[in-house]
Order: sequence, then structure tokens, then C-alpha cells
Amino acid sequence: MITYREDPKICIFDSNDAMAESIAQQWLNLSRGTEIVNISLSGGSTPKHIFGFIAHSDYASQINWKHLHFWWGDERCVSPKHEQSNYGEAMRLLFSQVLIPADNLHPIHGELLPEKACIDFKDEMEACLPLCTVSGKVRPIYDWVILGIGEDGHTASLFPGCTDSETSQNAVLAYHPDTQQARVSLSAPAICAAKRVTYLALGEGKKQIVAVLLNNEPSSEGLPAGSIKSIQGPTEWYLDVQSASGLNEQ
Ligand code: 6PG
Repeated sequence: MITYREDPKICIFDSNDAMAESIAQQWLNLSRGTEIVNISLSGGSTPKHIFGFIAHSDYASQINWKHLHFWWGDERCVSPKHEQSNYGEAMRLLFSQVLIPADNLHPIHGELLPEKACIDFKDEMEACLPLCTVSGKVRPIYDWVILGIGEDGHTASLFPGCTDSETSQNAVLAYHPDTQQARVSLSAPAICAAKRVTYLALGEGKKQIVAVLLNNEPSSEGLPAGSIKSIQGPTEWYLDVQSASGLNEQ
């Protein structure tokens, strides 16, 4: 892994396994503390490799899972059994393979009516996470929010042109612009209140959007993945050689 740039921090991994190993080692280190650590996971396909890597490595038994609580940055409004369920995928690939207490998993309940799932998500965050007040609004404080990015610059289920960066809500309803699939998502300000935000982008397919966002091209203006950053800690990018291949030379 090389650190390509410090602000925002850009790490370029030479393989998916190298990125997965880095995250696994960080989870192991975090799990060795005495405090509960709240980590929000991205959906989509990017994290699948990380889940599978950890499940089939020594990390599965070395990580002290009782100190880690996992949340999701967004969820499709489908049953956990559905192939598109972000929680269902993480359960299938990782959490069903390790000794993590059920109470340490905080899925968004995609099987419920979207409005109910959104309210329940908000309530669970307010009941279980440390809270802080930012600009007069109560926000949850995640220790680490891990996000993916779409080729249109969306992140979580916060899509360009329909993301309210000032909302007082911490959980919001959204609809995929192409499929109109209902989603429940962390809001932009809720993500920004996290102590640390890490965007994962792998493969040739993310080359263009990564270049637009990280070369500060004018077209990055207003894209959620370009404006959503931690306000109190680091915001970083975990890339591979392919997704980083459009970055300007340092
Ligand atoms: C989701 C996501 C979404 C995802 C990006 C990247 O539920 O789909 O959370 O924001 O992270 O669309 O998706 P891929 O990892 O599949 O490229």
C-alpha cells in the first residue's frame, strides 16, 4: 500500500486482498481496546471481498468481536434473505462465520415498511450510539463510517440532486434514481459527524468518478461523495491501482 496524498488521505492498494488485510488488521487493533467501537459498513459489492477475506482468515478468530458493533450506512428495502440486502450479504459472507453477539449487529430492517424502517433506524442510533450536538442538531457519533461510491458520485443511498446536506434527520428515505427501489440511508450530516470516514473504490469502473472527485474537477461540485466528509476526523480514500489510475500526478 502507498499513501498517495495526505489531505484527503489517499491509500492505493496493490490488490483487493491488501485492502481487505488492512481493514482486518485495523478491526483487530480496534477490538483489542476496552471500549465499544461502532463501525458503519457500506453496502454494494465492494465490501464483499473484505467480508470473505476476514471470514476465511485467522482474523475471524483473532478479532475480539464482542468489542465491535456493526451498523449499515444504508439498506435496500428488501428482506434480509433477498440477494440485494446489504445486511443479508454481510451475514452470509462474514457474521454467520464468526462469534459476534447478535446484539452487536444493528441492521436497518429492510423487511419493514420503508417509513417504519427509517424511524426504527433513527431510534436505534439515538438509543445505542454516543450523541453530539452539531449546529444545534443531535447527531450520532460513529467511530468509523466505511462507504462505497457509485459511478454517479452517490454514497450510501445519497444520490446527486436529491441529497439534503442540511437535514436535521439522521436517517432518511431515498429512492434509487433508476430503479426507484426504496432505501433507508444515513443522512449526509449524520455521516459527517463520524470520527472517521473511509471511501472504498475498487476497479476500472470507478476510475472516472475517483478522478472527478479527487482531482477536484468542476463536475465534482455537488456530488455527495465529494462533499460528505468527517467534520471532526479524517476522511480517506482506499483505492486500488485501477480506480486510482486517473489521478493527477502529485
Ligand atoms: C448500496 C450502497 C452504495 C454502494 C455504491 C457502490 O447499498 O448500494 O451503499 O452506496 O456503496 O453504489 O456499490 P458497489 O460497491 O457495488 O460498486
